[in-house]
Amino acid sequence: GKNYVVARIPGDGIGPEVIGETSRILEAAGRKHGFSLTWADYPFGADHYLKTGEILPASAVEEMGSMDALLLGAVGDPRVKPGILERGILLTIRFHFDQYVNLRPAKSYPRVPLPVAPKGGKDLDTLVVRENTEDFYIGIGSRTEKGSADFSLDTKRGLYSLEGTLRGSFSGGVEGAFQLGVASEPAVRRVVAYGCRAAKARGEDKITLASKSNALPQIYGFWEDIAQDEAARHGMGLGIVNVDAMCYHLVRTPDLYGVVVAPNMFGDIVSDLLAGLAGGLGVAAGADIGDGLSMFEPIHGSAPDIAGTGKANPIAAILTGALLLEHIGERTAAKAVEDSLTAFLAESAPGDLPVEFGGQGTTRAVGEAILKRIQ
Ligand code: NAD
Ligand code: IPM
Ligand code: MN
Repeated sequence: GKNYVVARIPGDGIGPEVIGETSRILEAAGRKHGFSLTWADYPFGADHYLKTGEILPASAVEEMGSMDALLLGAVGDPRVKPGILERGILLTIRFHFDQYVNLRPAKSYPRVPLPVAPKGGKDLDTLVVRENTEDFYIGIGSRTEKGSADFSLDTKRGLYSLEGTLRGSFSGGVEGAFQLGVASEPAVRRVVAYGCRAAKARGEDKITLASKSNALPQIYGFWEDIAQDEAARHGMGLGIVNVDAMCYHLVRTPDLYGVVVAPNMFGDIVSDLLAGLAGGLGVAAGADIGDGLSMFEPIHGSAPDIAGTGKANPIAAILTGALLLEHIGERTAAKAVEDSLTAFLAESAPGDLPVEFGGQGTTRAVGEAILKRIQ
């Protein structure tokens, strides 16, 4: 059978715990469905950084470029200043490989308790298509140094450059900071186009854009205009909803939307909200898709509050593994993983369900139970 080389960054906190279960399940799916996986393991994360000072060497990124996919747990650790590992590993990979779509399905599964009952029945099935390369994430920003109100900013960075160095200050010696957000036509078009194709595949005739042009008319007014045009090209209807109202509607009617397309920051927030509405961060899978290397990572973080306790729900990571299998072309195996997981949830005793759902099922026990159904 075929062999796939998959880069693996378990990362921090519960990352290694959930990636351990996922890896065993993907290997079992391979044995059953006639392919094998070779893991290329990378130690990047807090421990490695604190020991060596290294975050993510360019040589590793280069190597990963020739692999079939990347599986990542989560990065971020209370011992490390926020942003160092998150920007240095996660965002660097998303940007380097131009992974322009962050796909975040919010689906309900059997017996997963939902905080709000869907209005149209018991199922929830929304797909968040998050723009993944722009907005306030581009990394152009500055803050005043302590004791000085001046900021200066080297704007010649990455894909987006203003000319020269921007200098400024807050009046009266006030400390402060700023961060730039951008939207470019190609980036908006490609993610909206992706959303339209996804909606079509789901048999839907409209997508919904999370926006906020009332407060930020330049960037999100631009988004709305381009999205309108791109959706029309695909024969798709476009609903435009201010993101604050979208959050409000979602907590009252969690199954209101089919495909939600969102700029980077709103997509980050709305996808955590939808994860909560679908039963928890422990069931929310994710994929960063580009034309080159794609990365597969659950949407949750390293959850330092439960790391090492066995309470981490591995289901999000396992479903993320299923997305990985689908991406590399192993559709039958991907479906087998999702089916085994669904069967586990539907058939097991209440006490065996993950802790997140009110059971006593540890990360390991839940992983094992799903694995057994594949073999
Ligand atoms: P988080 O997603 O790690 O945790 C939020 C809450 O959800 C916590 O109470 C946690 O216990 C719970 N939770 C998350 N995953 C769970 C699971 N699988 N099972 C059961 N409960 C789960 O978000 P946070 O607390 O904001 O961030 C913690 C760290 O993770 C920070 O360093 C942050 O920067 C980082 N982070 C990384 C990623 C990533 O690598 N993709 C994503 C988000 C946050
Ligand atoms: C996510 C995370 C990241 C993001 C952080 C850790 C940089 O919250 O993957 O959702 O904001 O994209
Ligand atoms: Mn997030």
